Order: sequence, then structure tokens, then C-alpha cells
Amino acid sequence: MPETETPLPPLDPADWEQYRALAHRMVDESLDYLRDIATRPSWIPTPDAVRTEIRDESLPRVGRGDTATYEDFLRLVRPYPNGNIHPRFWGWVMGTGSPQAAMADFLSSVVNPQMGGLDHAPIYIEQQVIRWYAELMGYGPNAGGLLMSGGTMANVLALAVARTHSAGWDVRKTGAYGGPPLRVYASAETHSWLKKSCDFLGLGDDAFRRVPVNADFQVDVAAMSEMIRADRTAGLRPFCVIGTVGTVQTGASDDLEALADLAAREELWFHVDGAFGAMAALATHPKAQVAVRGMSRADSIAFDLHKWGYLPFDVAVVLTKEDRHLTDAFSTQAPYLASATGGLNASGSIHFADRGIELTRSFKALKVWMSMRAQGTDLLGQHIARNIDQAQYLEELVRAQPALELLAPVPLNLVNFRYVAPGLDAGALDALNRRILIALQEQGIATPSGTTINGRFAIRVAITNHRSRNEDFDALVTAVLRLGAELRA
Ligand SMILES: Cc1ncc(COP(=O)(O)O)c(C=O)c1O
Repeated sequence: MPETETPLPPLDPADWEQYRALAHRMVDESLDYLRDIATRPSWIPTPDAVRTEIRDESLPRVGRGDTATYEDFLRLVRPYPNGNIHPRFWGWVMGTGSPQAAMADFLSSVVNPQMGGLDHAPIYIEQQVIRWYAELMGYGPNAGGLLMSGGTMANVLALAVARTHSAGWDVRKTGAYGGPPLRVYASAETHSWLKKSCDFLGLGDDAFRRVPVNADFQVDVAAMSEMIRADRTAGLRPFCVIGTVGTVQTGASDDLEALADLAAREELWFHVDGAFGAMAALATHPKAQVAVRGMSRADSIAFDLHKWGYLPFDVAVVLTKEDRHLTDAFSTQAPYLASATGGLNASGSIHFADRGIELTRSFKALKVWMSMRAQGTDLLGQHIARNIDQAQYLEELVRAQPALELLAPVPLNLVNFRYVAPGLDAGALDALNRRILIALQEQGIATPSGTTINGRFAIRVAITNHRSRNEDFDALVTAVLRLGAELRA
């Protein structure tokens, strides 16, 4: 044993005052960066030289120091993100974040608590934001939940709970094959999380019964009912019905009242994927209220806060109507985690690790709690309502232009449209619109994404952006018309 401790440079700052100055500089420059975001292009592709420099750096066995590393971040990383913080970003479904929540993430890392359980204030913060969101979604006091990394993870967790609860045998003991093959019913428009989840839970893709949709992209409930009946007759085991509030393609919402009735009649678990759409519950907008009607009848709801909650990645919520549904599916009895009569692991404290898969969890709850308290959920609902109005505004702009065509109804916050020109066949129109989309992105004008609706390529605008204003949609339409004419020529 050495008698004296080896002297080492600390991993904490060697000079706290010097580091304080650098940290203040980081904060100041970050706030300027966010304040001036609208003055920059919506996207700047990463230059080859930057990509090469990042890739070719050899393993840094000796540190370069804090200031040099921060300056490399400013030069190599910060100018070239995917750009979802920009007011003209409407691709896929991503939120914008906020400076306040970014600071909360910083504070959360400073305290750096372990959120699997134990008796400490951060746990009570997560418990409280779960209660608040349960109330906003129309759940009662017995509801449970936990924060997750994203909609995919929140949904897969809910599907695992549904399986434990409704398979009809002890899945936790005998696994997925302790009885007849399990089947889950959801619309063909359901996000790819469900296919992945069926793979991941060992159910297989055959377990996912893809139910057709109507002209408004809502699930055909009568067809679903018939599929359940036929599967039972064939000796299969239906266990779960899934509805979506806000589908990823068009923003359609299923008839949740009808799905809740069906699930009750068939004694199946009823889950709602509200990845972005569930947040419409916070808005008094009539379209929002139509979208979420019946949602509180679900046994479980999954939704993101990093989409229409405008928080930085990553944070999502899974709620179950009864808290015990989560613990039934995930609690364990490991001796090294057993609670004590007092101290840090006192019994009665909340063990989030018993409500999901993750044991070690981060303090995401702080940015949720601070944002909710500082801004208020009514204001959040007003921003959500404004995004719905902006989708309608864009819909009207598209309808007013003979050279543009709407490709799907606009029930919520998503608009699918394309440029049209006489004399072009279907393939040429698709190719032209793909080129328009790439040009919009590469010229840094705006970032919609693309999809295919009823066989036609669509420029897809998903508005979960609190920084967008009507003039941003004016600019989008002007650019699509210009690029359409230019690229056609
Ligand atoms: C309807 C829907 N469900 C699930 C997801 C998956 O959520 P996440 O990307 O947070 O994993 C998305 C993502 O866009 C979505 O739109």
C-alpha cells in the first residue's frame, strides 16, 4: 500500500475562478445563439472538412483543456446541428426546446441525483410532474407513471404492461409463449414504434394486426372488431387495442370513444399513443378537444414532452390509470435494493425503478417541473393552439395557390402538400417535389420532411414549434412556388 496518495490533477476545475469565467462565457454565448436563431439558415450541412476533422482526431490520451475544447465545440459542432431549434423547422416531429429548460438540464446535472428511487427531493419532483400530467390528461388520483427517454420507449413500456395485465397467464414467469399467440390491434397508420416493440417484446411482427383506415386516416373500428372476432375463433389471444392521437403521417386521431367501448366489450387493454397529439389536451382549441376526446378512458397513455411540450430532448411520459399496473409489470425483490425503516432508502419512498426497466435514471423531471411552474400550463396550451391555427393558415395558403395541392386533411398540426404543374405525370411530380424538398433544406430556407400519402410524395410540415410565426409559412409557400418553377425548368 502506498503511504502517500498519488498527486493528480483534479477532474473538477483546477482553478474554480478561471472555470467560472469560462462557464459564464458558455452561458452568455449560448443565450446569444438562441436569441439570434432566426437570423441563421434553418440548416447548414456539415462541411466535409469538419466531418474529417472530427473523425480523424486520434484518441485524446492527454487532455486539451477546457477552453480549447469549448472553442472546438463552437467551431465543429454548434454550427451544424439538424436545426430543430429554428423557427422554420417542421420536419418529422421534433420540439424546439427553450433556454429555460436548457438551464434546468444544467441544474439537474449539477445536482446529479439517481432517479431510480430513494428518499430525496428530486424523486418527489418527478412524482409531482407525473401527478400534474395525469390531471391534465384526465386521469384520477390512482394514476401512476414515469418519465422516459421518448415516445418509442414510453409506448413499448405500456405495451409490456398491457401484456402482463391482459395476456391471461403469468407472462413474467413463463414469458410470451405461456399461452396462445398474442395479438395487438392498431391502425395501419400507427408509428413504427409498434412494429419495433412487437419485435423487441418477442411477439413478432405477426402479432401486430394492421387495421385499415378511412379517408380521414382514422382506424376502421368495425374492421378492428371483426379482426378480433376472427382471431379468437382461430385460437389466437387478443390482448391490446391501440389508438393514436395525432398520427405521424397526417395528424389524424382515432375515434377513442369507440376504441374504448370496443376494448371494454372485449376485455382488452386500451392504450393510446399520443406521442405529440396527447399534448392537445392542454389546449382549449376546438380541434384539440376533438382529437383527445375519449383519451382519459385509456388504460395507458404515452406522450413526449420533447415534441409538443417544447422541451429539449429527451423526455416523455408514460401514464397508467392505476399505479399498480406499472409495479405489477416491473417490480423486483433484489436484496441490495430492499428498503429500510429509515435513512436514504426508507420504505414508502417512490421507487421508479419498480415502474419500468431502467434502474439508473436521470433527473429529467427538473426541466419539466421548472418549465411548468415558471410558464404555466395554460400558456403551453395557448402555444399548442397557435400551432394548430398555423397549420390551418398554411392549409389556406396551399388551397389559394393553383400550383399547390393539399394531399391530406388537416385535423391538427400537420400539413401535407405538393407542387403541381400541368403536363407532368405521377413519377415526374414525385421527383420534382423531392427536389423541391431537398432544395428547401439545402438552401437553409426551411426544414419540412417528406412522406408518401396515397402513393404521392408529399412535403410534410409538422408544427410543434413555439418559434414559428405566420410569416414563416408565407416564406415557405413563396419558396416552394419559386423552386417548383425553377426546378421544373
Ligand atoms: C405518433 C408517434 N408515435 C411515436 C413516436 C416515437 O416517438 P419518439 O421519437 O419520441 O421515440 C412518434 C415520433 O415522431 C410519433 O409521431
